[in-house]
Amino acid sequence: MSKILLGLDIGTHTIKCVQLSREKEITALLAAGYIPTPISSISSNTQNDEKVIAGSINRLVHDMKVSTTDVVVSLPSSKVITRVVQIPIMSEKELDSSIQWEAEQYIPWQLSQVKIDYDIILRDESAGKMSVLMVAAPIILIEKYMRLITLSGLNPIALEPDILAVTRVISEGFETLPNILVASIGATTTDIALIRDKILIYTKSYPVGGSTLTKAIAEELGFEASQAEEYKKTYGFEEDKLEGKIAKILMPYFTNILNEMEKTITYFKEQYPKEEIKLAVINGGTARIPQLMTLMTKNIGIDSQISNPLSVLSIDPNILPIVSPDSPIYTTAVGLAMKEVE
Ligand SMILES: Nc1ncnc2c1ncn2[C@@H]1O[C@H](COP(=O)(O)OP(=O)(O)OP(=O)(O)O)[C@@H](O)[C@H]1O
Ligand SMILES: [Mg+2]
Repeated sequence: MSKILLGLDIGTHTIKCVQLSREKEITALLAAGYIPTPISSISSNTQNDEKVIAGSINRLVHDMKVSTTDVVVSLPSSKVITRVVQIPIMSEKELDSSIQWEAEQYIPWQLSQVKIDYDIILRDESAGKMSVLMVAAPIILIEKYMRLITLSGLNPIALEPDILAVTRVISEGFETLPNILVASIGATTTDIALIRDKILIYTKSYPVGGSTLTKAIAEELGFEASQAEEYKKTYGFEEDKLEGKIAKILMPYFTNILNEMEKTITYFKEQYPKEEIKLAVINGGTARIPQLMTLMTKNIGIDSQISNPLSVLSIDPNILPIVSPDSPIYTTAVGLAMKEVE
């Protein structure tokens, strides 16, 4: 029997959803779709806003003609803490009772107000240490997402930070590469991460994204937001169009992202001096900005590619041409629907 699951990624700009079926080794894309996030943004907290967003999600899955309501949903990495921590080797039982104490050092919130999940990712017996992936999410955030999903008529099976879903897809897509630098550039947030041996070893969120760029163009050129958005998508970092005017406006924002990517590479080299990162994979809607990959490769000195989550899926030829132009925006949703769930 194949297992069918939805992956739902509620971004500040776009809500993305995919339906995957899994049978033995084959994961197939059955449906995919996206809609704009209603203006009453996902970050607001009123009951009415939740209803509006739930209404949009309901419409999206209805249009996709999904055949299940079981869904794995992403939490924005910027609102949760995802960290790999090194701790002395101990049994799972011991860890279970000490994780709260371990977590306290990394969490800026009251422990009574967060839910902590963890996973032992590496045991180094010789060093007497283990690496634990720890995720801490505010209970209020989890409750809000559970309400939203239920309101939209879906059945929440699991929630996880979006960067973990991205890690799942990218490590499967580039199986032969041990180390990968990741940048997920959405509308309001950029997450930078390191994957080593298919495991997320580091991640950090920055409050910059495509909306920041659109706003900058609008302010600089006195455009309406919609016109600024068009210019961003059409010209991006093209130096030889409009005398590189748009590229010049965007550059300072990207310089920040590039600097953070470089710092992340430096961190990796300090941690693993004998290893190398050979590829940067960029995903999220803003990955499609013209000439971004050239700019990345040139500046960080690592070959950069746009993520293509479809490469790990088997796809009905009828839906391939519909989904492929937008493929980088589905990375998180695909990773969510690929999660192993009971
Ligand atoms: N072809 C394109 N060129 C440049 N930017 C694009 C293109 N297509 C989409 N975008 C930008 O991508 C962003 C939306 O991407 P995405 O759906 O990944 O964001 P989100 O998940 O809603 O945001 P966040 O994760 O930050 O909450 C928007 O800022 C949009 O302008
Ligand atoms: Mg996003």
